[in-house]
Amino acid sequence: MTGVSIEVHLRPSDLAAQLRADARAGLTSRPKWLPPRWFYDSRGSALFEEITRLPEYYPTRAEREILAAQAEELARLTTPKTLIELGSGAAEKTRLLLDAFRAEGSLGAFVPVDVSTSALVEATGALADDYPGLHVRGMVADFTRHLDRLPASGPRVVAFLGGTIGNLLPGDRARFLADLRSVLAPGEWLLLGADLVKDPAVLIPAYDDAAGVTAEFNRNVLHVLNRELGADFDVDAFTHRARWDSEHEWIEMRLRAARPMTVRLSAIDTTVDFQDGEELWTETSAKFRREGLVAELAEAGFAVRRWWTDRRGWFSLSLAEAVLT
Ligand code: SAH
Ligand code: AVI
Repeated sequence: MTGVSIEVHLRPSDLAAQLRADARAGLTSRPKWLPPRWFYDSRGSALFEEITRLPEYYPTRAEREILAAQAEELARLTTPKTLIELGSGAAEKTRLLLDAFRAEGSLGAFVPVDVSTSALVEATGALADDYPGLHVRGMVADFTRHLDRLPASGPRVVAFLGGTIGNLLPGDRARFLADLRSVLAPGEWLLLGADLVKDPAVLIPAYDDAAGVTAEFNRNVLHVLNRELGADFDVDAFTHRARWDSEHEWIEMRLRAARPMTVRLSAIDTTVDFQDGEELWTETSAKFRREGLVAELAEAGFAVRRWWTDRRGWFSLSLAEAVLT
């Protein structure tokens, strides 16, 4: 089959219920927190695309460099019938894989999976136009909940690019990798992009850029709460914070209240107080070392067959095979 289709596994009512549950749990915890998936409404997805073009945000360029260098070898090693991409966003870098996999000759379908309907609609439309003959089968779905819905037509390569694996906390990451392994057959592949530990002088500006785009991206989650939960956050009264946690080796993004505030979220009948300087934890972006990532993958039942980095050794792409444990 060719052409484009979109399957919706996350109905607006599911999304609304999950946002309410996350806001209730996160905003009444200490520290207050929200899961990063709520950044990505259409504005958030567009802001992320802007981030990928910032001079300070190296991960996208570094991963593109590796993909450009290794796409042919990847096609030769994996010969997939189906390429699935989790958290696909605009799927721009994925074009390097699609070109190489199409040239190799086996690829029939591309399945981008994303919680952001706007990103998925844009990406699938553009790809269907540019890759005639390819079945572009988008899935609006949550990669932490809907892996059992992935199409079974193998052999499959599941790409998880951009370093999004680092946005899962360690326990969630282990669960995610085990769940992914359980839906793959031995011999199928995970292609994983992961950002590496490096000098904080490089890391921090990547999450706190001079133009303030990342700050807007961070604050966007408050706009989402205002719109979706009838909240009255004074968005401009929160300042963007990015800090390197050298113990956990991750970047934390937070929003700091510039003054004491009482915020009402009418859709969940909840009132939340912020003290002056209190922080809302909005994202964790873990950075990896080779040995640690290879061990996490092995624990989940993936054997790393190839490990590549960009010239500077800042970002990694690993090709891991699902194996019997
Ligand atoms: N892979 C792209 C985009 C990365 S941005 C790149 O490398 O540039 C992260 C993407 O993951 C966003 O498009 C966001 O909407 C999506 N995302 C975040 N959490 C998700 C989840 N739980 N399930 C599915 N998609 C998710
Ligand atoms: C999607 N993810 C890998 C990005 C990251 O680098 O953790 C999200 C992001 N947050 C701030 N800038 C970019």
